Amino acid sequence: MNRVRKAVFPVAGLGTRFLPATKAQPKEMLPIVDKPLIQYAVEEAVAAGITELVFITGRNKRAIEDHFDTAHELEMELEAGGKTALLEVLHNAVPKGIHCIYIRQPAPLGLGHAVLCARPVIGNEPFAVLLADDLMDVEQSQKPVLAQMLDVYKEEGASVLAVQDVPREETRQYGIVSARPYKERLELVDGIVEKPQPDKAPSTLGVVGRYVLSNRIFDFLDSVGKGAGGEIQLTDGIAALMQHEKVMAYRFAGRRFDCGSKLGYLQATVAMGLKHPEMGDAFARYLDETR
Ligand code: UTP
Repeated sequence: MNRVRKAVFPVAGLGTRFLPATKAQPKEMLPIVDKPLIQYAVEEAVAAGITELVFITGRNKRAIEDHFDTAHELEMELEAGGKTALLEVLHNAVPKGIHCIYIRQPAPLGLGHAVLCARPVIGNEPFAVLLADDLMDVEQSQKPVLAQMLDVYKEEGASVLAVQDVPREETRQYGIVSARPYKERLELVDGIVEKPQPDKAPSTLGVVGRYVLSNRIFDFLDSVGKGAGGEIQLTDGIAALMQHEKVMAYRFAGRRFDCGSKLGYLQATVAMGLKHPEMGDAFARYLDETR
């Protein structure tokens, strides 16, 4: 079985729910405390052993490339000022031995289409997909979510979707799976549908922004055509893949913040603020005082 070395980060969406903040900057560069969303996702991937980071970018996304590039002048300035801790922070954005690859999605035709754009660099290997607007937080005793999923992949040799129970009235915001219990935290997917109405949803098990996928998905994404919302949907590619290969749904351990929504973004800011090594305690006191 091939090791999963490559991860795809689709960052070509328009981010309309965050306008006007996302008019001239990518949604994925919005910070949670002091780190942009995309960096949380990259750190999760690197912690899981991923070495090739494939970003699917679009218009107005150059800030992401700059973020993971060397900032020569800034580094000289910090070095001259003896600010070694900050210098370290900059260097750690992309650790040694990790490669960034950028591919343009010519138009935002949907998440499935964005993933398909990665085909030339993924080739014949299994790969991960991470949506940076889903921020995954784990306890210190838990592995990061993608690492948990790669353990499942190693054991089962099958594609793995991260899932969580969602309120029935919210099913139209998710890909929803129908699945049979298989092992602890693990179910065997036998159906998947994108954004069903609550009364049509086969279950309330929603797919969130972490996937480990067999490269066969590309053949199906190439031919699925437009689905829900007139977009080429990753969900439809997975529905086709499932007819040929095992696909597992994994109830990850940890908390997911939907930072593509304003409420989720604020919740993530509070959670990460409270955990922050420098100002977590002061922030907790502030919240207590203002309650
Ligand atoms: P969303 O559904 O959150 O869309 O995409 P969006 O455009 O980013 O945000 P809103 O809904 O307009 O506010 C889910 C993920 O898929 C990527 C997005 O960048 C996001 O990470 N995506 C979506 C693409 O890369 N290309 C697309 O064509 C669509």
